[in-house]
Parts: sequence; structure tokens; C-alpha cells
Amino acid sequence: MAATSPIYIILLGAPGAGKGTQARLLAEKLSIPQVASGDLFRENLGNNTPLGLLAKGYIDRGELVPDDVTIRMVQERLHRSDAVRGAILDGFPRTIAQAEALARVLAQADRRIACVPYIRVSEKSLLARLSGRWICPICQTTYHVLYSPPKVSGICDKDGSILYQRPDDTEETARNRLQVYFQQTAPLIEYYRGKGLLVEVDGEQSIEAVQGALDDVVAQHVARLAL
Ligand code: AP5
Ligand code: ZN
Repeated sequence: MAATSPIYIILLGAPGAGKGTQARLLAEKLSIPQVASGDLFRENLGNNTPLGLLAKGYIDRGELVPDDVTIRMVQERLHRSDAVRGAILDGFPRTIAQAEALARVLAQADRRIACVPYIRVSEKSLLARLSGRWICPICQTTYHVLYSPPKVSGICDKDGSILYQRPDDTEETARNRLQVYFQQTAPLIEYYRGKGLLVEVDGEQSIEAVQGALDDVVAQHVARLAL
């Protein structure tokens, strides 16, 4: 992948589809940061910032944080120096208004989206994935009790931290997040298909198989950016 243009890839998919898992792997491979709006909100929450406190109610209910706040936060993140060569966007955009704001920001800097892989997973699998998810509070690595367990139960393989479960992964909140996804975010599938950027990836496969499929898709589209 020898493209010199900055690379912007948007991972689209429902809660639990594997966006975070794959964004981390892709970011490492391409040496560009993973920009995850959910992680940014949780970071703010952990630091008790005004943004974190504002976002908390929405996150706890499984609703979307208002567009203006979210757009400002992600825009600021994309302007940091480590994102000068691009970013893997995970969880943003999530509404048409967010997608249009992103398009404006990138156009102003004469930058383009390489592709929008849509990780497709059935609703039944999504709920099973969310309820079995455990996360490292330090390095944010995501595990699953059945599909991707840590070597020692409850402990991060990388740094030995004690894993935790997200409060919005309870069954009731997870179901609401899925509803919100179908109503407000799923329209982005057709939006990006219409722009010729959408590439569907079967997300029901193993983590390694999804990773392989994404690597192929991304390699093709990044090569096109260089033309
Ligand atoms: P956010 O943190 O973005 O959560 P999400 O979109 O609901 O996505 P998840 O992190 O739940 O799932 P994922 O697709 O990353 O799956 P993962 O890789 O972890 O958002 C949280 C909240 O913040 C929102 O509800 C909202 O309030 C707010 N917010 C965030 N962004 C916003 C925005 N743009 N606008 C407004 N509000 C916003 O995988 C899930 C599990 O499955 C893991 O355990 C993993 O190990 C396992 N797994 C992954 N892949 C596979 C596989 N192939 N096979 C088997 N298991 C797998
Ligand atoms: Zn860790």
C-alpha cells in the first residue's frame, strides 16, 4: 500500500458488528490512528469533562449524542498532528448530517474518503456479541468470552489490566442502540452506496476472516487513491 495521499476509511456497521475490533487492526496495519467517537466520549466521561457529562445521559440511554457536539469533537480530533496521514473512522459518521459535515471538512482540505466498508452482521449475532464483550480500560482492546477470550479470564493479555463490561451493553440498552442504529445510521448504507464508496463485508465470519476481507478491500481502494 504505497499511497502517499492521506487515507480516510469509514467503518460502518451496527453496534457489535466488529467496527472497533477491525478498526484497531487496520489502524495498526496502515499506521494511521483509529478515531472512534464512542471512545472519545468515554475518555471525556472518564475525565469528567463538560463534554463527557453532556454525553453521559445519551450514552446511558443508548441514544445518539447531538450532531453539533459530536461533529465538533471529531473535527478537532482529525486536526491533531497524528491524523495528518488520515484515519480509520469507527462510529462516525452516524447520521446523514454527520456524513455531510465530514465531507465538507475533508473537501476543505482537498482530501477524499478511500472507501466505506460496511460490516454486515445479523441482529441475533449482534446481541450475543455485545452481551459477551469485555474491554481493557487501559489499551481498549476488546475481548469476547466465547469468540475472542483473553488468555487469563478477566485480564488483558497486553498489559494485565482487569477487564470491564460497558454499562450500555446491558440487554435493554443494547436493544435500544440497535433500534437507534436502524433508524438513524442504517440510511448511511444507501448514502455511501450512492457515492460509489460502499463495500459490503460479511461480518459473520471469524475476526481473522473479516480482517482478511477488509485488508483486500482497503488495499484495492487505497491503490486507487494514488492514481
Ligand atoms: P460506540 O462506542 O461507537 O458503540 P457502537 O457503535 O454501539 O459500537 P460498539 O463499540 O458497541 O461495537 P463495535 O462494532 O465496535 O464492535 P466490537 O468490535 O467491540 O458508541 C457508544 C455510544 O456513544 C452511542 O450509543 C452514542 O450514545 C455515542 N456515540 C458514539 N458515536 C456517536 C456519533 N457518531 N454520534 C452520536 N452519538 C455517538 O465487537 C463487539 C464484540 O464482538 C466484542 O466482544 C468482539 O470481541 C466480538 N467480535 C468482533 N468481531 C467478531 C467476529 N467476527 N466474530 C465473533 N465475535 C466478534
Ligand atoms: Zn490492555
